[in-house]
Amino acid sequence: MTPVRILHIDCSPRPESHSRALSAAIVARLRDAHGATHVTHRDLGLHPIAHPGAAYATALSSPANMTSPESVEACGMSEALIQEVEAADMLVIGTPMNNFTVPSVLKAWIDQILRMGRSMGVTATGEKAGLLADKPVYVGIASGGVFTGDHAKQPDFLTPYLKAAFACVGLTSLQFLPLQATAFLDDQQLDDHRNALIAAMDINRPITTSRR
Ligand SMILES: Cc1cc2nc3c(=O)[nH]c(=O)nc-3n(C[C@H](O)[C@H](O)[C@H](O)COP(=O)(O)O)c2cc1C
Repeated sequence: MTPVRILHIDCSPRPESHSRALSAAIVARLRDAHGATHVTHRDLGLHPIAHPGAAYATALSSPANMTSPESVEACGMSEALIQEVEAADMLVIGTPMNNFTVPSVLKAWIDQILRMGRSMGVTATGEKAGLLADKPVYVGIASGGVFTGDHAKQPDFLTPYLKAAFACVGLTSLQFLPLQATAFLDDQQLDDHRNALIAAMDINRPITTSRR
């Protein structure tokens, strides 16, 4: 049986972190559900990738610039990261909420993944159109406070942003698992909260990559 391939991305700078524990629990749940799995771990928190530099920004600045030899070289990291996404059957992301949205290390990764002419195109009427095959994306979020539900006390630019960004490349099957109020819950409460999120996970989404 071909193992299910999981791209597991962590974004916290802290080795012992709530979003890491949550994403690890999501991966463990998927392993239980799917049997044989192969996990590629990209640790953006402990090993951040660079923010877009001048060469990459120039490559993306116009259709004409995109095809030059310099641009092909400048897009090397983008190409490798997109291929990592393409090779996976599902993505698991563990991320903190930083100032109402994703941490900059995850934004830097997104800046490499959303690339016109490679992972996204444009429709006749000018909208972005995803070029990647859809696949399940599980996003475990740790937040110090509460950002969703009746007791939300702050805006949420994280989940709408990720939905819009991933949709641009064709990834629309997102599932958010918010571990909220980490600043206020004790260890037992956090364990219970995490376990409840994992128990409620929808693991029956079809795997739709072209590999299968
Ligand atoms: C720079 C920074 C910004 C933060 N901004 C928010 C925020 O906007 N909302 C919130 O609820 N918590 C915020 N927090 C708290 C973290 O989301 C919280 O501590 C979370 O558990 C961190 O994830 P981790 O345990 O995986 O590192 C922020 C923390 C940092 C360091």
